[in-house]
Amino acid sequence: MSLNGKKIGIAFTGSFCTFKNAFIELKKLVEEGAVVQTIFSNAASSTDSRFGKANTYVDDAERITGLKPILTIPDAEPIGPKNDLDILVLFPCTGNSIAKLANGITDSPALMAAKAHLRNNKPLLISISTNDALGINMKNIGLLMSTKNIYFIPFGQDNPEQKPNSMIAHTELLIPSIEAALEGRQYQPVIR
Ligand SMILES: Cc1cc2nc3c(=O)[nH]c(=O)nc-3n(C[C@H](O)[C@H](O)[C@H](O)COP(=O)(O)O)c2cc1C
Repeated sequence: MSLNGKKIGIAFTGSFCTFKNAFIELKKLVEEGAVVQTIFSNAASSTDSRFGKANTYVDDAERITGLKPILTIPDAEPIGPKNDLDILVLFPCTGNSIAKLANGITDSPALMAAKAHLRNNKPLLISISTNDALGINMKNIGLLMSTKNIYFIPFGQDNPEQKPNSMIAHTELLIPSIEAALEGRQYQPVIR
């Protein structure tokens, strides 16, 4: 499937160690001809860390996509009524946002975008990146995996010896995972 002309939302949440790889994939999506609207959670748009400055990421997103990132809940809400995204990706998705999404909490622009998009019965793809995936968040991941219209970028343990509960998505599988989700399929194998 070609992504040329597809309207894709990319919502960044605060897994900052994943941003470098996420931005590599963001560029690939634009090169494929997709129209990409980025959205940032409050943490993602405001936290400076050893992985970089928040405003640099926001500026890079605009430069790469040519569209101003969505940074507020009021600016994310129209994603519902406008119904103009083919797919939305939480890329990366923190344990915090997974837990909130699974429990119907909508207190960041990324989660507002997810709620607004799901109301339109369209695919939401999740790229998990969290140290508690096999711990307290396992139940939430399981709940989301069995929810209509929700798909996952394949993921696995990244450091079983030192971080036994940590799991992270293979961000390089963004494009095939999007293509599958747009056809209503979970890209397999999902655990790898
Ligand atoms: C440097 C740094 C790295 C972080 N990395 C992660 C991470 O990889 N995964 C995660 O779930 N949370 C991570 N966090 C914690 C989240 O940023 C925090 O839970 C935040 O409230 C998430 O908000 P959001 O889900 O709305 O973006 C990190 C925090 C900092 C400061």
